Amino acid sequence: MNIAIVGAGNVGGALARTAVRAGHQVSISASDKDHARVLADEVGGRSADSAADAAQGAELVILAVPYGAVPDVTVALRDAAAGKVVIDATNPINADFSGLAVTDRSGAEEIQAQLPGARVVKAFNTVLASRMADPTVDGVPLDGFYAGDDEQAKAAVRDLLEGMGFRPIDAGPLSAARHLEHLAYLNISLNARLGWPWRSAWKLLGPTD
Ligand SMILES: NC(=O)c1ccc[n+]([C@@H]2O[C@H](COP(=O)([O-])OP(=O)(O)OC[C@H]3O[C@@H](n4cnc5c(N)ncnc54)[C@H](OP(=O)(O)O)[C@@H]3O)[C@@H](O)[C@H]2O)c1
Repeated sequence: MNIAIVGAGNVGGALARTAVRAGHQVSISASDKDHARVLADEVGGRSADSAADAAQGAELVILAVPYGAVPDVTVALRDAAAGKVVIDATNPINADFSGLAVTDRSGAEEIQAQLPGARVVKAFNTVLASRMADPTVDGVPLDGFYAGDDEQAKAAVRDLLEGMGFRPIDAGPLSAARHLEHLAYLNISLNARLGWPWRSAWKLLGPTD
């Protein structure tokens, strides 16, 4: 699959490596074109001059930018992302890291409203970047929670997660992204408050079928 990754930082870099290892082609954009080029050269992908350029020819677009950059990115992607699956991997953390910057609805639902032609699926946000490149702990695949309203788009994301080595878990409609964003925040705040080494990850134990 051709995957566009908007953002070449911790998350964009880890997902680019994992996606290429899983057999996908990636195109990468960042604020600074040089950052995208360096990562694309490293993983064997294509660097793009803009988010819209990255999305050109991609079947799926991953947003891996700070939540504050989302309005600019969605404006840039409005036409290019139409009809495409857009994975929202962002976490809408507020400026002082004391909680989420969204209240009534999730960041993912905000992004869906900003990209009405796209099919937004929340995924990867509950996983720390340090675990995205190798989503296993002691040989056990980590849970890859995802949420969305379009079943076909969710199936594509489920397959992507599984191919990358996660155990995919369908968390429900896009409104369930509210839970996933709080789940991510809990892990982040535990690491920050308790001085953990930023490698903890979510795994549901027990029978799930
Ligand atoms: N870090 C984690 O463990 C983790 C885990 C799950 C989810 N998340 C979420 O994932 C997102 C990215 O986190 P991160 O840690 O990867 O951040 P990061 O390391 O700061 O990287 C952010 C990337 O976004 C790019 N960017 C910023 N504004 C842009 C714009 N307008 N257009 C295109 N690219 C833009 C930056 O470009 P430049 O390189 O040119 O500066 C950079 O490559 C955040 O929403 C975060 O909450 C993070």
